Amino acid sequence: MATTPPVTSLTRTPTMDSELSKPTVGAVVSSASCGQVLADDDQPSRTSQLVALTRAQLRRPHTPEGDPDAQSRLCSGMPPLPAGWQRPDLEARTRFFDDQVLAAISAGTSQIVILGAGYDDRALRFASPGVRYFELDHPTTQGDKAKRLGSIQRDRERLALLPADFRLDDAGAALATAGHDGDASSLFICEGLLVYLDPRTIARLLGALRSRAAPRSTLAASLAVHRDGVDSEQAVVIANSRRRSAMNEPWRTILPAGAHLALLTRAGWHIEHAGPLPRDATHIEPHAAQVGRDAGARGSLLVVARPA
Ligand SMILES: C[S@@+](CC[C@H](N)C(=O)[O-])C[C@H]1O[C@@H](n2cnc3c(N)ncnc32)[C@H](O)[C@@H]1O
Repeated sequence: MATTPPVTSLTRTPTMDSELSKPTVGAVVSSASCGQVLADDDQPSRTSQLVALTRAQLRRPHTPEGDPDAQSRLCSGMPPLPAGWQRPDLEARTRFFDDQVLAAISAGTSQIVILGAGYDDRALRFASPGVRYFELDHPTTQGDKAKRLGSIQRDRERLALLPADFRLDDAGAALATAGHDGDASSLFICEGLLVYLDPRTIARLLGALRSRAAPRSTLAASLAVHRDGVDSEQAVVIANSRRRSAMNEPWRTILPAGAHLALLTRAGWHIEHAGPLPRDATHIEPHAAQVGRDAGARGSLLVVARPA
């Protein structure tokens, strides 16, 4: 019989409010999207639902044990995608992270940690003997996901759901408490997450992951970047002004590629690969005339990093 996966409780290490509104790395947080205006904590993440609903339409691989319908089943009953909703970039991004998971499993990695997991279905789609999944997300979204998983998940030992607000909670401590083995290699995934966090929180989260990363671990992340020479605060403000979900889930960090990669490096990660999503290439090329006129133009950088 299917059982609801356990949602582990956490000890909070509160962060000063003033810290939340004080960007220390690069210029990032607009007055409209800074720490005083936090995401709507009472509702499950709608951006995560939109990503999941889009992903449910894609043809994707799965492991022999995995559930090819997991994404559709997790999305059951969600409000549908808005009319005209388009995210063609999600197919390439999904492929990148699917490939990272499959490569990690092939290489013998036994722990896959998904930060800001939302309604990510990979724990079910890529279920594999001996592989444990740990998912961390905001408690409200995590609670909704636990309910949805309760009716479809077969093996709760293979997936730990950890409620965590990265602004307040220590992801490293949460993983240790949940039985994550810091001496065994892990794949850490930050897909579509870091743009929602302020730079200080990003630095703390990446440092916490580094502290749990045994040799041969991997960090795979998508970063929101803009071209050099554009004011980062202005880029955030303009990008949010074009988003319907900016009020509840504002973007907080968009940086030039070099500055964003430096955040990872300072947290103890060695960048092995960093490349744009195929359709984003023109958005971050310095010579693109379109970008020259548009301070809000941005792109995604897909990164693979190892413990330095
Ligand atoms: C755009 S969704 C991406 C979800 C998932 N990674 C995917 O690709 O399907 C961003 C996710 O980050 C989570 N998130 C944003 N801010 C967070 C925070 N401070 N602490 C924990 N999770 C957060 C949201 O709840 C949401 O699930």
